[in-house]
Amino acid sequence: MSDYETLLIERHDAVTLVRLNRPQALNALNAQVLTDLIAAFAAYDADPEQRCLVLTGSEKAFAAGADIKEMQPNGFSHNYATNFFAGWEQVTATRKPWIAAVAGFALGGGCELAMMADFILAADTAKFGQPEIKLGVAPGMGGSQRLTRAVGKAKAMEMCLTGRMMGADEAERASLVARIVPAADLIEEALKSAAAIAAMAPLAAIANKEMVNAAFETGLAMGIVFERRLFAGLTATEDKTEGMTAFVEKRPGVWSGR
Ligand code: HXC
Repeated sequence: MSDYETLLIERHDAVTLVRLNRPQALNALNAQVLTDLIAAFAAYDADPEQRCLVLTGSEKAFAAGADIKEMQPNGFSHNYATNFFAGWEQVTATRKPWIAAVAGFALGGGCELAMMADFILAADTAKFGQPEIKLGVAPGMGGSQRLTRAVGKAKAMEMCLTGRMMGADEAERASLVARIVPAADLIEEALKSAAAIAAMAPLAAIANKEMVNAAFETGLAMGIVFERRLFAGLTATEDKTEGMTAFVEKRPGVWSGR
C-alpha cells in the first residue's frame, strides 16, 4: 500500500526509495505525479530518521517526459496564469541529499527531473534526451539550463536542437551521470550509495550539498567565501566534535545531528 497514487515508497533503514509508478504511460509526469513527489520529498525532508532518498522509475523508463496528453489542450494563457512547471521548484528545494537512479528512457521532463537530483546513477540501459523540439516546443523544467551546465554547450545544444538521445556511456563521458552500473544492479547500487550518505553526519550532508550547489549560483571568489563560512559553521556542531574525536580514537562516529 502506498499513500501516493503515482508513487511506490519503500524504507530501507535510513534510506527512502521512491519509485515512479505510471507504467501505462512510461512514468510520464502529470499533475498527480508532481503533487505526489512534492509531498513525498517534503515528508522525507521533515523526517529526521531518513537521511537519503533514491528516486527511480521502471526498467523501461525512468520517465518519458512531462505528460503530453495532459499538456496538449493547454495554451499560453493557462500555462502563464498557472505558472505551469513552477511546482518543480518545490522538489529542487529539498535540503537533504537524493539520488536519481535511471534505467531506460529519461526524456524531456524525465531527463530534467533526473538532473534535479544531487547526482544521477545510470543503468547501462539509460537513455537521456530533450526531444521537446519534436513537439514544437522546448524544455520547460530546467533542461536547457541544467543540461548545459552538466555537459556544456556543444552537446546540450545538439541534443536540444536535434532531440537525439544520449546513451549511458556517452552520458558518463559527458559528466551527466556520476557512474554507470549494470541494469540488474541499479537499485542495489543506488541503495548502497544512499546508505553511505545516510551514514554521514546529517548537518554535514546538507552543508556539502549546499556548497556544491552554490558553485552553480556564484562566482568563484564568493563561492569560496560561502564554503569557508559554512565550514566554520560546521565546526560549531556536536557532530564535528564527535567526528574528530572518533577519528583520533579509531572508531566510527556516532552522530547526533546537532
Ligand atoms: C504521455 C506518454 C509519454 C508522454 C509515452 N507515453 N511517453 N504519454 N506523455 N511523455 C505513453 C504512450 O502514449 C503510450 O501510451 C505508452 O506511454 C507507451 O509508449 P509507446 O510510445 O507505445 O512506447 P515505445 O514505442 O516503446 O516508445 C517509447 C518512447 C515514446 C520513445 C519513450 O513513448 C516517446 O517518444 N515518448 C515521448 C517522449 C517525449 O517526447 N518526451 C518529452 C515530453 S515534453 P498509449 O496509451 O498511447 O499506448 C516534456 C517537457 C515539455 O517533457 C515542456 C514544454 C511544455
